[in-house]
Amino acid sequence: MLGDVAGLDVLELAGGTAYLSAWLDRAGARPVSLDLSRHQLETARRCQASFETAFPLLEADAEEIPLRAASFDLVVSEYGAAPWCDPRRWLAEAARLLRPGGRLIFLTHSVLVGLCVPEDEGFAGDRLLRSPRDLACISWPGGGVEHHPGHGDWIRELRKAGFEIDALHEIYAPPDAQTSEYYEIVSADWASRWPAEDLWVAHLPG
Ligand SMILES: C[S@@+](CC[C@H](N)C(=O)[O-])C[C@H]1O[C@@H](n2cnc3c(N)ncnc32)[C@H](O)[C@@H]1O
Repeated sequence: MLGDVAGLDVLELAGGTAYLSAWLDRAGARPVSLDLSRHQLETARRCQASFETAFPLLEADAEEIPLRAASFDLVVSEYGAAPWCDPRRWLAEAARLLRPGGRLIFLTHSVLVGLCVPEDEGFAGDRLLRSPRDLACISWPGGGVEHHPGHGDWIRELRKAGFEIDALHEIYAPPDAQTSEYYEIVSADWASRWPAEDLWVAHLPG
C-alpha cells in the first residue's frame, strides 16, 4: 500500500511504539512519529536503542500538531488517530501538514467489527449489537471513547478536509490464520468471513 517511500518525509500519527516509523526509516523514508503518551514515547525510545534506529519522536496531540504546514509527503496512522481522535480535527491536521499531492494512509477497525463486538469482553459475533449511528463516537463501559464513523461519514469527512479518496481496502484474515491471544476482539474464523480492518488511502490534489 505504501509503495516506494525512499526520500519521503513521513508523519506517523499516534505512533505508539513507532514500529511502523522504524520500518519506514529502514525503507529510506524520513519519519517523525508523534504520540500523546509519554510512556509510549519512552517505549519507542527504548525500541530505537535496541534496534539502533533514530528518528524524531514527538509528544503531541494528533488533533493539534505543533508542526509547520506542508512539511510532509505522507501521513500514516496504524490504529492511532482514527479510533481515538475526532475525525474532523485529525483529518484537518493531516491535510494541513501534507504538501500538495501528499498521501494519507490509515488503518482502523472495520465498521462491521464495531457493530458486532460485545460491550464487555469477547470476540465479535454474527449479530448486529448496535446501530452504526452509535459508533461515530462511542463510550465503552470499561472506559475510553472511540470514533468509528460509517463509510459514508469517512468519505464526507475526508472530502471536507480536502482529500481525494483512492481506495478503501476491507481486510480479511487469510484462510489459514490462527486466532491470536493478542487480538482480543475477533477470532481468525470471524476475520476470514468478514473484514475486520479498514485501510483508507487518500491524497491531496497536486
Ligand atoms: C494502539 S496504540 C499504538 C498503535 C501503534 N501503531 C503501535 O503499534 O504502537 C494507539 C496510540 O494512540 C495514542 N493516542 C491516543 N490518542 C491520541 C491523540 N489524541 N494524539 C496522539 N496520540 C494519541 C496512544 O497514546 C497510543 O500510543
